[in-house]
Amino acid sequence: MVVRAKARIIGIGSYLPSNILTNQDLEKMVDTSDDWITSRTGMKERRLASVQEFSSDMGAAAAKTALKNASLNPEQIDMVLVATMSPDYISPSTAAIIQSAIGAVNASAFDIQAACSGYIYGLSTAKAFVESGIYKNILVIASEKMSAFVDYKDRNTCVLFGDGASAAVVSQKGDGLVIDSICLGADGALASLLMIPGGGARHPTSHETVAQRMHYMKMEGKELFKHAVRKMSSAATDCLAKAGLNDGDISWLIPHQANARIIDAIAKSLSIPQEKIYKTLHKYGNTSASSIAIALDELTQEYTIKPGEHLLLAAFGGGLTWGALLLTKILASSEKK
Ligand code: ACO
Repeated sequence: MVVRAKARIIGIGSYLPSNILTNQDLEKMVDTSDDWITSRTGMKERRLASVQEFSSDMGAAAAKTALKNASLNPEQIDMVLVATMSPDYISPSTAAIIQSAIGAVNASAFDIQAACSGYIYGLSTAKAFVESGIYKNILVIASEKMSAFVDYKDRNTCVLFGDGASAAVVSQKGDGLVIDSICLGADGALASLLMIPGGGARHPTSHETVAQRMHYMKMEGKELFKHAVRKMSSAATDCLAKAGLNDGDISWLIPHQANARIIDAIAKSLSIPQEKIYKTLHKYGNTSASSIAIALDELTQEYTIKPGEHLLLAAFGGGLTWGALLLTKILASSEKK
């Protein structure tokens, strides 16, 4: 029997636009307040891409840094996966645009649409391709220009979202973070809780869809909140059980950065102390698929993760979709040949 190496992340890179949108800026745009946003969400600032900056540009910038950190050339990449719900176009895929932009001439490319869970879905897909022996090196990119689909006249949504990208190189060898257990789920019966109703084949863009602002994201925040807590907690618990671990074995929980109160509720249900939860939402808001990816990059830059340490990622998003994924630090020199 062939024993294949476990897929692992060997290089990460992120890109955040320089424009900052503060709670004070939002106070001038809609009927809201810094106090409401801070107390109900934990958010203070978010980054916005410029008019000429798109998900493909941000994703390509993040991918170049990830490749550099992995010490790989673009030609060595076999597949480019892009998790996004704010693609440059409905077609072609943002992955194809990035594949060309970074010179990954030997790579196949496609997008993953799992909203905020897209990065975990992407890492899981990369794991399957690498551990089956089909591919050696895969770029998993999460990139979102949420500001293109957020209605800045709707206070229910516009205070929450931000733009940004992050990329990870998933490979069959090298030092890195092994993608251990994965746990994914979906429930399309709840699709209407978060959707962009216009612009697809069901409601093609017309004067009417634009007048009704159907090209912007619509969200049932209160309902989503409940599902987010339940689904992220249960996915995280299942993911740990699959790996034969419990809450106390986790060095860091990196949850989707949708709301500080959602994160607190998950931490409580999992008995994970606050100091083990990594948060970026105060400075970047909810960057959808990119949120966990950016947080993972910042965490691993800020702290040295030791061999054997476990990081638990948990996400939730439109679809509905959700997922959890366990990463374990590994040194290639410790692996059996
Ligand atoms: N400023 C001031 N008041 C506001 C604002 C705002 N920005 N937004 C809503 N309100 C008002 C509402 O209109 C409502 O007023 P009303 O009682 O007069 O009707 C009141 O505040 C309370 O609204 P709730 O919906 O009860 O507020 P809640 O405490 O639930 O917080 C929030 C709203 C922040 C949206 C929260 O429900 C949430 O975070 N939900 C999860 C959202 C989420 O995770 N979305 C992303 C999914 S991931 C993806 O796929 C992209």
